[in-house]
Amino acid sequence: MKEYKRYMVTSALPYANGPVHIGHLAGVYVPADIYVRYLRLRGKDVVFVGGSDEHGVPITIKARKEGVSPKEIVERYHALIKESFERFGISFDIYSRTTSAIHHQTASDFFRTLYDKGVFVEKETEQYYDEEAQQFLADRYITGECPHCHNERAYGDQCEKCGTSLNPTDLINPHSALSGSVPVLRATKHWYLPLENYDPFLRNWILEEHKEWKPNVYGQCKSWLDLGLQPRAVTRDLDWGIPVPIEGAEGKVLYVWFDAPIGYISNTRELLPDTWQDYWKSDDSCLVHFIGKDNIVFHCIIFPAMLKAEGSYILPHNVPANEFLNLEDNKISTTHNWAVWLHEYLNDFPGKEDVLRYVLTANAPETKDNNFTWKDFQDRNNNELVAIYGNFVNRVMVLTHKYFGGRTPEVSIRTEADRETLQKIALTKENVENALENYRFREALKEVMNLARLGNKYLADNEPWKTIETDKARTGAILNLSLQLAANIALLFDPFLPFSSAKLKNMLRLPDTAWERIGEGDILPAGHELNQPALLFDKVENDAIDKQLQRLHALKTAPAKKDIPFDEFSTMDIRIGTILEASKVPATDKLMKLLVDTGIDRRTVVSGIAQHFSPKDLIGKQASVLVNLAPRKLKGIVSQGMLLLTEDAAGKPVFVVPERAVANGTAIS
Ligand code: MF3
Ligand code: ZN
Repeated sequence: MKEYKRYMVTSALPYANGPVHIGHLAGVYVPADIYVRYLRLRGKDVVFVGGSDEHGVPITIKARKEGVSPKEIVERYHALIKESFERFGISFDIYSRTTSAIHHQTASDFFRTLYDKGVFVEKETEQYYDEEAQQFLADRYITGECPHCHNERAYGDQCEKCGTSLNPTDLINPHSALSGSVPVLRATKHWYLPLENYDPFLRNWILEEHKEWKPNVYGQCKSWLDLGLQPRAVTRDLDWGIPVPIEGAEGKVLYVWFDAPIGYISNTRELLPDTWQDYWKSDDSCLVHFIGKDNIVFHCIIFPAMLKAEGSYILPHNVPANEFLNLEDNKISTTHNWAVWLHEYLNDFPGKEDVLRYVLTANAPETKDNNFTWKDFQDRNNNELVAIYGNFVNRVMVLTHKYFGGRTPEVSIRTEADRETLQKIALTKENVENALENYRFREALKEVMNLARLGNKYLADNEPWKTIETDKARTGAILNLSLQLAANIALLFDPFLPFSSAKLKNMLRLPDTAWERIGEGDILPAGHELNQPALLFDKVENDAIDKQLQRLHALKTAPAKKDIPFDEFSTMDIRIGTILEASKVPATDKLMKLLVDTGIDRRTVVSGIAQHFSPKDLIGKQASVLVNLAPRKLKGIVSQGMLLLTEDAAGKPVFVVPERAVANGTAIS
């Protein structure tokens, strides 16, 4: 390992618009934590920063959905996220937030420095403006038809159906998600980071000087560079964020991806007001960013270009980004609640923090997307943690108490096979170091588990429960060696499974022991008194797993209803009609009063779609109407019939209409 004087380790700042889930832990926080715990055990000077990303459109969307302020949202989720990380033992030196005063100052100054250096390009462009809501619209707040696949619910930045990245002006028939009105183009001024100017620097720095980066990271950078870099706006028209600190920028804030990575710096400043610069501005400091794959371009291209433009900062040494973790063969989706939320896991599986750390590391999406299943979670717990590691430790402890009064036995002679077994410890240490220094966490974990496996084999081969009948000295030698193995395993597992290592070290009464001691002679002296054995892990029963699976499967599509005879279906009179008038029902937020031409008559129908459509969207639209539904009174209005609607993946209602327009009154049969 090249010797650095200091390590600056960062982990992506999660958006404080929801709780964190297993995907976050597996992709970013567990690997980062293993890495820093390892460095600390090696006696390195390391600072590990985290924090919540509290600006940007995702926060404002969540706030709007709930009808509360963005501040209320970030307060709630910052606290929840911080607590989840703490309880999982993610050992941040600081976990702060981008709404802190010191961050506002740091990000603002950073922008100002680049501005004063003339780095930015000022451009006036036309952007969608919502005249009803009187504000410019973020890309996510504009919906319309995708020009590629004609999905009518595409967003201004992306069509989620076909996956194409879009610009708001690409959308056919755009609508504002704020008011439902048709947005207009209006001129607005923004500041751009001319990324194309950094192309030669980035090509050389990444493609030539960092060929050792993970293939998924290097590959993504290369394709970005090959596509050609474009200027990127670093300001936004939004009322939530850090104000742009120059004149003529009233009502504008820094783009969230401009301020958030600066959060790493602000948080270090908050932690170390006097020495933070050593970590960020000195060539003998090693900067490593732990992130998920959707953050690669920001950490490998945009943030380095910002740092380079500023001029006084070091650049990342590595960005070991992970791929994604799926859950039970489906993409984790926060909107569909298809996730294992950390705060829920902590309640459902108290004391099993290390189990999840273990399973997520053993299954880490290091080179490709990977899958978490509850069955695999149970198997790894029962067949590996309980049956291999826990079982080995328990047998050694119990036998030592039984035969040697709970003291480490003396060793007079070690056999050749004993010496070979002990040599495996030093070899494992070397392999673990090598794997960790190259960000191969699964491999490192496997190495340590193999040492526990070896411990079990050693006990099975040497059978101390038999030798005790004839040869107490040999039995002592066997248990002594097994205890040395257990002590070394506790030290080697420490970065990965800190809670169980602490428990085992306590059982062994193992004093603080330097990483360097691993595999270097006996750690526990003969006669050393041990504490009572306690189980390191216990079995995960089927019940616990079934409960989790049931919750997930309840989220899947509801099963078909029971069969009905044809006659029952034909009692429903469904006609095609046209909406003639529409108005919101006063003092409700969901109801829309419609006048519909059903071909039979003109009648009033009340429908719960007012949050998703404005009256002018609806007038002139054809709809399918169940015309013989018994009239119902809703908020004092008699509704005669019901519109047939389905909904899209985001829960927005979609009209069920004929493939081609047909005459009003035509029946569906
Ligand atoms: N909030 C972003 C996300 O969840 C990550 C921000 S990382 C930082 O994707 F670099 F901006 F801090
Ligand atoms: Zn599309």
